[in-house]
Amino acid sequence: METTERPLPELVTVAQRQAAATGFAWSCIPEVGRLLMLAAAAKPAGVIAESGTGVGVGAAWLHAGLGEHASLVTVEQEPDRAARAAALFAADPRVEVLVGDWRLLEAHAPFDVFFCDGGGKREDPERVVDLLAPGGLLLLDDFTPSNHWPPRHNGEIDELRLFYLSHPKLCATEVMTTPTSSAIIATRLSAAPNR
Ligand SMILES: C[S@@+](CC[C@H](N)C(=O)[O-])C[C@H]1O[C@@H](n2cnc3c(N)ncnc32)[C@H](O)[C@@H]1O
Repeated sequence: METTERPLPELVTVAQRQAAATGFAWSCIPEVGRLLMLAAAAKPAGVIAESGTGVGVGAAWLHAGLGEHASLVTVEQEPDRAARAAALFAADPRVEVLVGDWRLLEAHAPFDVFFCDGGGKREDPERVVDLLAPGGLLLLDDFTPSNHWPPRHNGEIDELRLFYLSHPKLCATEVMTTPTSSAIIATRLSAAPNR
């Protein structure tokens, strides 16, 4: 659990203020943000991608872990949100904010880190997996923890979560981010899994 005392990266604070000022309520929580920062830091020369920029909170977390030789590309379909996020990173040539559908990201693949948060996750999960580089990390948040296998949501098998957790090209796990929310972290296998 995140404590209120732990300092946040400066751009995260700025982006959070923008989210509050514009009533944007779907930014990632700090517990997810710290996973994003860690993932970006784990790929110091990597291509880091995000679908669904919002106003830039998740991108600011990724940016906090961004290596000197890494790049961050994020896409948002709402032009006003994208413009706010682009302004945050205007001084950093490593960052590109695209305006449009998440498929614009494809031109920048393969990804060493992919925070799939707006577009792709539900519509075309197979394509999401294919956009990862071998060893690339995929992060997906906003799941509801389940004690069952296969995982359930509202009494039904959660087919989407099952897809990511059992995909043969991924090694994946689910981590609690708060007592009532979880995230999936997966890495793209470079060869057929032995499991
Ligand atoms: C959960 S919010 C993103 C929050 C952001 N990733 C963060 O952590 O601060 C989802 C965003 O995805 C955008 N979105 C939804 N579908 C999209 C698509 N197909 N292509 C691009 N953006 C999309 C929405 O407009 C919304 O701003």
